[in-house]
Amino acid sequence: QAGGPLAGVKVLITAGPTHEPIDPVRYLANRSSGKQGYAIAQACADLGAQVTLVSGPVALRPPAGVTFIACESACEMRDHAMAALPVDVAICAAAVADWRPDHVAGQKIKKQDRTSVPPPLVLVPNPDILAELSEPSPMRPRLVIGFAAETQDVHEHAQAKWRRKGCDWIVANDVSPATGHMGGDTNQVQVITRDGVEAWPEMDKTALAGELARRVAAWLARHPRRD
Ligand code: C5P
Repeated sequence: QAGGPLAGVKVLITAGPTHEPIDPVRYLANRSSGKQGYAIAQACADLGAQVTLVSGPVALRPPAGVTFIACESACEMRDHAMAALPVDVAICAAAVADWRPDHVAGQKIKKQDRTSVPPPLVLVPNPDILAELSEPSPMRPRLVIGFAAETQDVHEHAQAKWRRKGCDWIVANDVSPATGHMGGDTNQVQVITRDGVEAWPEMDKTALAGELARRVAAWLARHPRRD
């Protein structure tokens, strides 16, 4: 939308899972569908933002009008996210794998025989893209938003995450299997900011994305750029 409330605003969004290679045919992954991140990219573009969407492997079509960058692993996602800076707003909706195999075999790891011991999988930590984007620096986006997918004690864990990551807002949701949120079409979140916690009603991911995009626009209007 030319002249929309996010016109001239650059937004970086990470979305989807990451795939962490073990060998040329195997990887570690998670159940993220990318739906929430893609919906946010669409909603921000609809309000006129210049959106860069950095996405792990998903089965979705990139929204029209966004700069789309596909990647697989957390390290690739980090590199693409950092290369997209400077931006005004970063929204980290990706379900980035916390760990990756410390070694990627050049060839398919072979099973020796039926009784042989399986090879050990040694994991090392991945870069934390949200924490890195939140670090104080001249390149820091003015508004950094993270997600917190939890399966228990959502509020406590999300509050701790908000403090630990250094981001401005945390959008926390319950992804226990019974809720159907992970991979589903609806979501129910609590939004944590320095002003406190707001519990939003259950809504579909598109509506939630629209609401979040409007909140971002309102925040930017209240905090004009100082240059
Ligand atoms: O630590 P945890 O994965 O629960 O935090 C979730 C938030 O951090 C999400 O916004 C996710 O996109 C982001 N994150 C990240 N890089 C990681 C791990 C999480 O950007 N390596």
